[in-house]
Amino acid sequence: MCQNDHFIDRAKDWDTKSHRVKNAESLAKAILKHVKLTGGEHLMDFGAGTGLLSWFLADKISKITAVDFSSAMLEQFKSKSWPCEIDILQTGIEPDFNGLNVEGIISSMTLHHIEHTLKLFKKFFDVLKPGGFLAIGDLVTEDGSFHTDNSGVFHFGFEEQNLVELMKISGFSEIKFSIVHEMEKGFEEGIKKYPIFLLTGIRMH
Ligand SMILES: C[S@@+](CC[C@H](N)C(=O)[O-])C[C@H]1O[C@@H](n2cnc3c(N)ncnc32)[C@H](O)[C@@H]1O
Repeated sequence: MCQNDHFIDRAKDWDTKSHRVKNAESLAKAILKHVKLTGGEHLMDFGAGTGLLSWFLADKISKITAVDFSSAMLEQFKSKSWPCEIDILQTGIEPDFNGLNVEGIISSMTLHHIEHTLKLFKKFFDVLKPGGFLAIGDLVTEDGSFHTDNSGVFHFGFEEQNLVELMKISGFSEIKFSIVHEMEKGFEEGIKKYPIFLLTGIRMH
C-alpha cells in the first residue's frame, strides 16, 4: 500500500457513483472518435483505479496494463471479468513505467493528482511506440470545490493553453483539446457543473 493512498477507503464503492461511470463512458466514446483502434492494441491506463475508463474500451483492444499506486483500487480492477488480457503495474508516487512500450496511453481524472505534469508527459512520450497516442481526460480549471477533501490534489483542473504547451515540449504532435463531458455534483446551494476535457496527442517518430 502506498502511504499517500487517498483512495483506500473509497475503492470498494468507487463504481457505485453514476457520475463517475457516465464520465468514463463519455471519455471512452470521445477517445474512439479521435483514435482509430484496430483491435490489436496494448494500452496503458494511467491511474486506472477500478478500471472505469478501461472497461469501456476493453472489448476493442487486446491488452491493458493498469497503472496505479493504490493497491485497494487495483484490487477492484483485478476483480472484474475483462474481455482482454490485463496486466497490473503498481507504481510509487513518482511513476516508473518499467520499460513499458505500448500503442496508446489512456487516463481519466488522474492528472490533477500529479504534481509535475511536464515530467509525466515526457515519461508518457517514452512509453509510447512511434505512432502511439496519448488520451487524457480531466477537469477544466475549477474553484477547488470538486473534491470534498483536497489532500492529494495538486491542480484545481487545467487550462487548454498550458497543457497544449507542455505536450509540445514533450514531443507530441497532432495535439487536440476538447470539452467532452460535464460532471454534475450536488451541493447545499444547488448543482454545480464541472467541464471535463479530452486531450490527445501522437508520438510521431
Ligand atoms: C480520481 S481516481 C480515477 C480513477 C479512474 N481512472 C477513474 O476514472 O475512475 C485517480 C486514480 O489515480 C491514482 N493515482 C493518483 N496519484 C497517482 C500516482 N502518483 N501514481 C499512480 N497512480 C496515482 C489513484 O490511486 C486513483 O486510483
